[in-house]
Amino acid sequence: MAYTPTEDRYQQIQYNRCGRSGVLLPALSLGLWHNFGDADSYENARKMVRRAFDMGITHFDLANNYGPPPGSAERNFGKILKADLRGYRDELIISTKAGYYMWAGPYGEWGSRKYLLASLDASLKRLGLDYVDIFYSHRFDPDTPLEETMSALDSAVRRGKALYAGISNYRPEQTAKAVKILRGLGTPCLIHQPRYSMLDRWVEDGLLDVLEKEGIGCIVFSPLAQGMLTDKYIKGIPKNSRAAKPQGFLKKEQITKPVLKKVSKLNELAKKRGQSLAQMALAWVLRDTRITSVLVGASKVGQIEQNIAALNNLKFTAGELKTIENILKDK
Ligand SMILES: NC(=O)c1ccc[n+]([C@@H]2O[C@H](COP(=O)([O-])OP(=O)(O)OC[C@H]3O[C@@H](n4cnc5c(N)ncnc54)[C@H](OP(=O)(O)O)[C@@H]3O)[C@@H](O)[C@H]2O)c1
Repeated sequence: MAYTPTEDRYQQIQYNRCGRSGVLLPALSLGLWHNFGDADSYENARKMVRRAFDMGITHFDLANNYGPPPGSAERNFGKILKADLRGYRDELIISTKAGYYMWAGPYGEWGSRKYLLASLDASLKRLGLDYVDIFYSHRFDPDTPLEETMSALDSAVRRGKALYAGISNYRPEQTAKAVKILRGLGTPCLIHQPRYSMLDRWVEDGLLDVLEKEGIGCIVFSPLAQGMLTDKYIKGIPKNSRAAKPQGFLKKEQITKPVLKKVSKLNELAKKRGQSLAQMALAWVLRDTRITSVLVGASKVGQIEQNIAALNNLKFTAGELKTIENILKDK
C-alpha cells in the first residue's frame, strides 16, 4: 500500500538550530550505520524510516561505507526514498560522508580531493539523488593538507552536489583550522559529528567550546554507546543484539563487568526518573544546549519510538546530575 506520512508529524518533536546557520535539525536523528545494509531486512529498514518520518524525524545520516556490504545502506535508503518519500525531498536532511576505506588502491579512503569527490558521486548514484544536504569529511587525514580536504568539500557545495559541508571526528585544533579554511573559501562549516555519550566524554575537553565559539552545530553519534547505555546487556548478551552479530561493530569484550556495574546503577536512576536507561542517556546528552541533535541507531521501530519519547523528559535536577557523575567515576 502506498505510504502517506502522518499529518501531525511536525507537532511531535522539537527542532534545534544547527549552530548559527539557517538549518533546524530534529533533536533526535536516525543513523543508518547498522541494520540498513543488505545483510539486514529491507522491509524492517523501510518500516523504521517510515515510522521515524511519521514522528517528525527529518534527518537521516549515512556514509559511503555503511552496510554491510559497504554502499548497501545508501542503496537501500535510495530505494526507500523512491518507494515512499519521493514527494518529500524538501522535508528531508540527508547526509553522507567519505573518509574511511571504500575501494582498493591509493584513492579509496582518507581525505584527498580525488577520493572525496569520486566518493560523493558514487553515493549520489546509490542514493538516486542529485544532491545530499550535508557532505562530511568522515575523519581527519594527517597526510593530506587540510586545505585540499576542505576545498573538496567546498567544490562539492559549489557544484550543487551538497548543500552544506561538515566534518566528523576532528579534534578541537583540527576543527578550528578546518573551520577557518572553509570560512575563507566561502563555504562555512555547518556541523561537526563526534562520538559522545556518558561512556565517552572527549568532546567536553575543548571541542564543544570550539563549536560554540564558531557557531557550528553538533550532532553526536553513538549516544547509547551502541546499545550499552540501555538495559539490554544487564543480564547477558541477547540474541540479535549488535554485540551478538558478527557484523556488529560492538564487540562482546567491550561489555565488561565495570561497564555493566555502571549501567545497572544508571538503570536504577533512570527508573526513579520514570524513564528507560536509553531515554535517560539521550536526555543526558541533550542537557548541553550546544548539542543540536542526538544521532541514534535502531534495529526495531519500537526502539525509535522509545527513544523519541526521551524528549518528554529532558530536565535533570542538580542531585541527579551529581549521582550520574559519581556513578561514571566509580571504578
Ligand atoms: N561519524 C562517525 O564516525 C560515526 C560513527 C558511528 C556512527 N555514526 C552515526 O551515528 C549513528 C548512530 O550510531 P550508533 O548506531 O552507534 O548509535 P547508538 O544509538 O549508540 O546505538 C544504536 C543501537 O543501540 C540499540 N538501541 C537503540 N535504541 C534502543 C533502545 N531504546 N533500547 C535498547 N536498545 C536500543 C540498538 O542495537 P541492537 O542492534 O542491539 O538492537 C541500536 O542499533 C550511526 O547510524 C551513524 O549514522 C557516525
